[in-house]
Amino acid sequence: MKKSITLTVNGTAHTIEVEPRTLLVHAIREILNLTGTHVGCDTSSCGACTILIEGKSAKSCTVLAVQANGKSITTVEGLATAEGLHALQEGFHLNHALHCGFCTPGMMLRAVELLEKPQPQRRRDPLGNIRQPVPLHRIQQYRQGHSIRFRQDGRPRIALH
Ligand code: FES
Repeated sequence: MKKSITLTVNGTAHTIEVEPRTLLVHAIREILNLTGTHVGCDTSSCGACTILIEGKSAKSCTVLAVQANGKSITTVEGLATAEGLHALQEGFHLNHALHCGFCTPGMMLRAVELLEKPQPQRRRDPLGNIRQPVPLHRIQQYRQGHSIRFRQDGRPRIALH
């Protein structure tokens, strides 16, 4: 029996019908057609499906859509604005910080959370993503070579040291 839920995704409220077992990642991709959120492992390991729920990162393959009812969600499609790319997207682009790009949306959303809400005790892999060897140096270069600054409008801005 389907249940009606409302998800506010990237600032727009959507009321949809889902089965109680529907995973949030599938609701986002298949019902809302926001395919920037990817499914890599489907077992909560890779982080490709990472989104922000109420500003906190979550692997959407481990969340039921009904659990997100009434919540505010940010997907990679919500990072850019009419003024342009989010600073992290610009940084990833400038540093070619990707491999095939499949996991990049999840990495960016996790990085947004870390940069906007710094955590005192970071894990060894603060992104929580399984990283590929080829882009690792690019991602580290990006993360070490940039600092977060804030624009006058409060949006984060990446600057070279
Ligand atoms: S698809 Fe969700 S963690 Fe891999």
